[in-house]
Amino acid sequence: MLISVEGVTKVFSRNTAVDNMTFAVDRPCMIGIIGRSGAGKSTFLRMMNRLTDATAGRLLFEGRDVLALKGADKRAWQSECAMIFQQFNLVPRMDVVSNVLHGLLNRRGTLATMFNLWPTADIHRAIDILDRLGIAEQAPKRAEALSGGQQQRVAIARALMQDPKVILADEPIASLDPMNAQVVMDALRRIHEEDGRTVIANLHTLDTARRYCDRVIGMRAGRIVFDGTPDLLTTQAAREIYGADDSFSEAATSTSIDTLEANAPAESAFAQRMLAD
Ligand SMILES: Nc1ncnc2c1ncn2[C@@H]1O[C@H](COP(=O)(O)OP(=O)(O)O)[C@@H](O)[C@H]1O
Ligand SMILES: [Mg+2]
Repeated sequence: MLISVEGVTKVFSRNTAVDNMTFAVDRPCMIGIIGRSGAGKSTFLRMMNRLTDATAGRLLFEGRDVLALKGADKRAWQSECAMIFQQFNLVPRMDVVSNVLHGLLNRRGTLATMFNLWPTADIHRAIDILDRLGIAEQAPKRAEALSGGQQQRVAIARALMQDPKVILADEPIASLDPMNAQVVMDALRRIHEEDGRTVIANLHTLDTARRYCDRVIGMRAGRIVFDGTPDLLTTQAAREIYGADDSFSEAATSTSIDTLEANAPAESAFAQRMLAD
């Protein structure tokens, strides 16, 4: 088994944010977690990445309980399981390449980081990753100068710099317009398919989960109320997840990515020049 989540629970002082979550993943795949605001989606990802401690349960990755790791082992796990956030969490005034290189932070010394000294091989790798995501030309710019969709791709590049086995994405497209949402979701899907990395994404819209994920987990009040392939996600199942009555309409949870044409600009000229020397 690749991932085995066994009774994972998080209790905050007054409420149970994640209630006995249990599921297993036997091979790399792309999973979408959906549910209303407050359902426990972020809390689950944060426990998996060890940003917050679980109250109970085990989460085995390749047989090892990652919830029990401490110190250096915990940090090593955090770099195997990279996290992407709705608000990108880049350093706004720092250039794009340096933001990407910071994906290696867990692995290198403080002094080298402070003085922004990076081995040439790492810089080339960072630019290759940016190139793969179609944003190599943005490499020398400050992160804050980029559009939201470009910033999220920088965040994905930073995650890839860690060479993670798992990418956890917490509402990665919630701040983006439909066109940028599509570019970012396409990038995550491609990373899963081409690299064999597992992607677990909290998504606020049903249609995105349906379109991009192999498996959808629906959460309601901390519990899993749906777990299956997108074709099993009927309107009735969606109603149960979102807790809506008969007036429930799928349009209310739609990003309208479907209405867009594929749009993948090739911005590789800059990368070619940077790598030419
Ligand atoms: N640090 C915290 N302290 C107390 N309660 C929290 C904290 N973080 C989340 N919660 C609560 O846990 C529940 C699940 O939150 P969250 O995981 O953020 O849901 P989602 O990501 O699905 O919107 C909510 O009731 C939320 O208020
Ligand atoms: Mg959340």
